[in-house]
Amino acid sequence: MKLLVMGPPGAGKGSQSQKLIADYELTHISTGEMFRRSYERGEEIGKKAMAYINEGNLVDDDITNEIVRKRLLKPDAARCFLLDGYPRTVTQAEALDDMLKEMSSSLTAVINIVVDKDIILERMVGRRVCKSCGHTYHKTFKPPKVEGVCDQCGGTLYQRVDDQLESVRNRLKIYETKTKPIIDYYKGRGLLININGMQSFEAVYKDIQKALRGLR
Ligand code: AP5
Ligand code: MG
Repeated sequence: MKLLVMGPPGAGKGSQSQKLIADYELTHISTGEMFRRSYERGEEIGKKAMAYINEGNLVDDDITNEIVRKRLLKPDAARCFLLDGYPRTVTQAEALDDMLKEMSSSLTAVINIVVDKDIILERMVGRRVCKSCGHTYHKTFKPPKVEGVCDQCGGTLYQRVDDQLESVRNRLKIYETKTKPIIDYYKGRGLLININGMQSFEAVYKDIQKALRGLR
């Protein structure tokens, strides 16, 4: 299965992806996560990307397409993958089409998680992320067993710089102008599945599973 998970920042893409990759045995490709890891490793590309990210802006299309191309060509992505947060512009969607054509591959479905703005703000401000494994928590909606410590790996939890209010507002504006148009792009190709993201984690996941039934 080759999936794409999209939706506004804070919609729950990462949270749902963590379950999907485990249950459907998919290779997780999150551009946001790749940029953050690259920055932590001190790489030039990570430093460039983080300058955009901390302000809540999108990373340049060429940098983003290149990092995805390299990742998709690795053997573990040949059979099945889940793209989380890519593409985010029509230019990226077109670049992805070209990459998949080259690989004689195609997407199975595009899951679009729909969430209202006021809910998003609450989710972002309370989010905490594991420094070591990237697992996501929420202070109220999904607290770890021990405060500040990751349940999965014991790593330290932190708040992302781009989860501060100003940056979140900017990300939402950019989502409206640059990312929303690709909903129509995939609708036109008959790949789009809209999922109501304004429910519990479990209810959202059940709806996704239902929508994926019979697809491979
Ligand atoms: P990225 O890391 O992808 O951030 P994002 O898209 O803004 O999405 P988030 O990770 O913030 O939210 P999410 O939908 O994954 O929600 P989550 O599951 O964590 O990208 C970061 C930055 O990198 C971008 O802003 C951009 O600058 C750059 N970038 C990345 N990809 C790019 C691209 N293709 N092109 C250019 N630039 C790119 O959930 C959020 C919170 O809500 C969590 O605390 C969670 O516990 C909670 N929550 C989730 N679901 C529920 C629920 N059902 N009920 C209650 N709480 C919930
Ligand atoms: Mg995410």
